[in-house]
Amino acid sequence: MTETQARAAAGTGPTSSEPAGRIDDGRAYGRPAGQWNPNLVETAAGTPAGELLRRYWHPVALSAEATSLPRNVRILGEDLVLFRDGRGRPGLVEPRCCHRGTTLYFGRVEDDGIRCPYHGWLFAVDGTCLDQPCEPDRGRNRASYRQPWYPVREYNGLIFAYMGPADRQPTFPRYDIFEGLRDDEEIVIIDHFAFGGPAEAPCNWFQTHENAMDPYHVFILHNAISGHQFDPKLEIWPRVDWQRHGWGVTASQDRDLPDGTVLHRVTEIRVPTIRAIPTPTLTVLGKTNNMSWAVPIDDTRTKVLAMVRKPKDRIAQGLPVYADGKNWFELDEEGHQRYPGDYETQVGQGPITLHSTEQLASSDRGVSMVRRQFLEQVQVVADGGDPVGVSFDPDEAPVSLRAGNYVVAPGAQTLATEYTFVDQ
Ligand code: FES
Ligand SMILES: [Fe+2]
Repeated sequence: MTETQARAAAGTGPTSSEPAGRIDDGRAYGRPAGQWNPNLVETAAGTPAGELLRRYWHPVALSAEATSLPRNVRILGEDLVLFRDGRGRPGLVEPRCCHRGTTLYFGRVEDDGIRCPYHGWLFAVDGTCLDQPCEPDRGRNRASYRQPWYPVREYNGLIFAYMGPADRQPTFPRYDIFEGLRDDEEIVIIDHFAFGGPAEAPCNWFQTHENAMDPYHVFILHNAISGHQFDPKLEIWPRVDWQRHGWGVTASQDRDLPDGTVLHRVTEIRVPTIRAIPTPTLTVLGKTNNMSWAVPIDDTRTKVLAMVRKPKDRIAQGLPVYADGKNWFELDEEGHQRYPGDYETQVGQGPITLHSTEQLASSDRGVSMVRRQFLEQVQVVADGGDPVGVSFDPDEAPVSLRAGNYVVAPGAQTLATEYTFVDQ
């Protein structure tokens, strides 16, 4: 039964009352309206996907963005105010003051917290009300007031927040690739959306995230269409496979190099928003030196934050140059059309991609695996469980990443455990 026949049989959709004998030659007229799967894309509290997201720590800002000047931050569809009190503690609170509702964006940051500009109530980073200057005894009942707040942690230049239920707050995770930093190394944050584009993209986070399990687009988009956007070795057609793990999905791509070795490139996705994509310029071999988060600002805006470990005397990665010698910001409209990259194609899927109109093929198996695992975890949380990848053990060992550009002998099993910067 064709889709048109099925829809007609079900009595639904714009084609159900079409005259008999209409020619179905694929033209756009009468096509079904597309829909997205809400359990992949919704970010708001109370939605099934939003509740899964709220079981994890998320990077919400750069450490440098938490200052004595309050800053508006939007994350998972919630508007919040970020600040750093005079003792250096970052705070993340609801903007709307719990007294009479003006915004703390105009508040004054003091040693112990943020003071509302309207009637002067002072709130600590955990929302505790410390002062009510217009009330008797400066607020003899102030202990019964609390500004809505979220716990935050600083880690290697990013501020993370946990925005879920208090009794399910997991241990803050660390990652092995950032442990044991040597004196000549440092960790930096890069906030390009992807491949040198702007920090924020006007599209849902999931279509950005799942791209990490789509290795085939590397040869097409980043080579055949737009020229060598990465190391030319990535143009060699690889053997691709995907592996499902308890915590996420990996893609492995084996390329036979001219010298007889094999480039075993592994990319990695961890539930819910983590991607480890070893540098595609191949300036780093061995285990990856970076990982990133596809941060849902809300349902239709995404920010990508990457954490990179590197020698102090090397640049992390400059702005990539497209085929006409310009970086992303220097391309004009025609340049973006002639040399599209990740930003153009992912934003080009629309504010929220329409899953119902997609036609997934064999090369999309990794994307399917990521979606299936995410949907399973949405259900786990909906059923009252704890999702994968969270730990409540305060002594939990750092998470060990798998991703890397491993150059190995054919059939070799041993993979380098440390990254190596190489000259190019
Ligand atoms: S509205 Fe904030 S103190 Fe009154
Ligand atoms: Fe890409």
